[in-house]
Amino acid sequence: MTPRLGMHTLTAGRGLLFGGDYNPEQWPESVWTEDVELMRAAGVNLVTVGVFSWARLEPEPGARDFGWLDRVLGLLGDAGIAVDLATPTASPPPWLGHRWPETLPVDESGHRLWYGARNQFCPSSPVYRERALALVADLADRYAGHPALALWHVGNEYGQICHCDDSAAAFRAWLQDRYGDLDGLNEAWGTTFWSQRYSDWAEVITPRRAPYLINPTQLLDFRRFSSDALLAHYRAERDLLRARTPDTPVTTNFMGLFKPIDYWSWAPEEDLVSNDHYPDPADPLAPARTALVHDLMRGLGGGRPWMLMEQATAAVNWRPHNLPKPSGQLRLESLQAVARGADGLCYFQWRASRFGAERFHAAMLPHAGPDTRLHADVRAHGAELRRLAPIAGTTVPARVALVHDWASWWALDERGQPSDRLDPTDQLLSYYRPLWERGVAVDVVPPSAELSAYALVVVPNLYLISDADAASLTAYVRAGGVLVVGPYSGVVDPRAHVRTGRFPAPLREVLGASGEEWRPVPEDRPVPCRWSDGTEFAARTWTELVRSDGAEPVAAFTEGEPAGHPAVLRHRSGRGVAWYVATLPEQDALAELTARALADAGVTGVLPDVPPGVEAVRRGPALFLLNHGDDAADVPIPHRAEDLLTGTTAEGRITLAPRAVAVLRPLDTP
Ligand code: GAL
Ligand code: ZN
Repeated sequence: MTPRLGMHTLTAGRGLLFGGDYNPEQWPESVWTEDVELMRAAGVNLVTVGVFSWARLEPEPGARDFGWLDRVLGLLGDAGIAVDLATPTASPPPWLGHRWPETLPVDESGHRLWYGARNQFCPSSPVYRERALALVADLADRYAGHPALALWHVGNEYGQICHCDDSAAAFRAWLQDRYGDLDGLNEAWGTTFWSQRYSDWAEVITPRRAPYLINPTQLLDFRRFSSDALLAHYRAERDLLRARTPDTPVTTNFMGLFKPIDYWSWAPEEDLVSNDHYPDPADPLAPARTALVHDLMRGLGGGRPWMLMEQATAAVNWRPHNLPKPSGQLRLESLQAVARGADGLCYFQWRASRFGAERFHAAMLPHAGPDTRLHADVRAHGAELRRLAPIAGTTVPARVALVHDWASWWALDERGQPSDRLDPTDQLLSYYRPLWERGVAVDVVPPSAELSAYALVVVPNLYLISDADAASLTAYVRAGGVLVVGPYSGVVDPRAHVRTGRFPAPLREVLGASGEEWRPVPEDRPVPCRWSDGTEFAARTWTELVRSDGAEPVAAFTEGEPAGHPAVLRHRSGRGVAWYVATLPEQDALAELTARALADAGVTGVLPDVPPGVEAVRRGPALFLLNHGDDAADVPIPHRAEDLLTGTTAEGRITLAPRAVAVLRPLDTP
């Protein structure tokens, strides 16, 4: 069911959105007219305004200066450019921290972080909350019904963590809510260990710096709390906005696989999902990594279109060595987002700043001005996006689900485990890559997702799993689903207590396999393994001592202590099939395993054969082909098709130059 508000509220009559963050407060008003003219010439139809404008809107406590913003919104509105209006609460003015230092965040060492940068607020500070909400309410009152107002952008990239006294008090309240009483807390945190028993709530603090390893459940609960505390603040702002502008959608910009925030709990609280994503031009895995993040955004929005709120036209300025994007990369990356469900393609930022910490960050309009190669590329891209209007609102059908969970990530991130080299997001990418390479569409889902519509569910790692989620995976297989589970899964419960018995305790029945020892291996000694047909592969970092309890061992370790023990098992359970992988197979072996699991599930990619470096994805009526490689690629195509980007017709095959994109809509079916 499509909710009342969403991307469709914005794309109706506009097509795909194109624009960026616009910070007119950094420029004299004379520049604004030129900005708007150039925006129109570039096909910009939406800009985000006001993200960092608190000090300008409220120059001193309680004052209001909306005049400049009235003029900005007037200019944009007259030009037909929609406004994504930000609540400016991500970066309070110096007066807030100066007069009310308790609004400033405190780090784990108990040190206050000061103003002078941005993001210096404590989400649990009553003073911050009161001041922020007062301004948000006035902002919404002022611009409710304004013809330019199209979307609300709450705060910016939430992610603050705070250890101040207000935060500690809020943490205690959160814990009381979760555990009821101190006995419940002591039980859950396992405080009989190392004499950590609490006798009074006043003793309970956030996990500040301590002499040695901190209680793992305390750490995990603090991560949960920190995500929830920010969410509570976001919701308070959102509720003020909704009350005043019930027809204007609300979003806040996510940051992909960003560890501190559980986006599964956040996404349902917004009308549309938006994300900031900056692929590293130096990262050879960036295309697959980016696709994964885009699929996560689609998943967070329940499959509905989402919006790329920020990307860079060229180099960012916050990596140590900032490579520019090769020519063609700007449109390739933007179109990749469209292919994977984005209906909005926006940039940070419209005009490059002259001053401030981000003055060397690329923009849509560089310091050198409009007469530049970069700005020409921006214009060309804005123009071609208009041709993709038929794509807006369409979906990306997927029969494969990839499971990602924040709580499990947080729990596995803690020290004091057999190895700190099992990174759940690395595992996610490793299992995602072979699917991406074959043009198999994937939905990223939480462990609690309804799985019955999927033919294949891949769980690269769920170190922490609840009984209910384990039962759901089991039921999914019994009913005919195909499941792949990676190593070190099902290890702890939601309190991060080890599940005893042979592992993975809550999944061993469905997997028909169980283990007794985790055995990390030296990095420089890959572990030789062999498929049952004799082909060999290597695994690394991690092995498990596992036995079959009915599953077919399809690959085994061949040397050293684990020799003869299964490395990969496949089990028929009920009407389905469950795979367990007890190590980290090299990428080619994961591709082989994926091929076998896809065969079990009867799932194929969008094309029988996708050349290396090419991304193939079907969205709505069109097949998107994107060449991320450095060589031209020859792609066989199934139908006579029109390339929506060029208007040309293709048949039989299409040749894609490096960084070229085709958006093929079938003309007839043979
Ligand atoms: C984002 C942020 C923007 C800008 C951009 C630079 O994290 O939301 O305000 O800082 O990065 O890449
Ligand atoms: Zn705080």
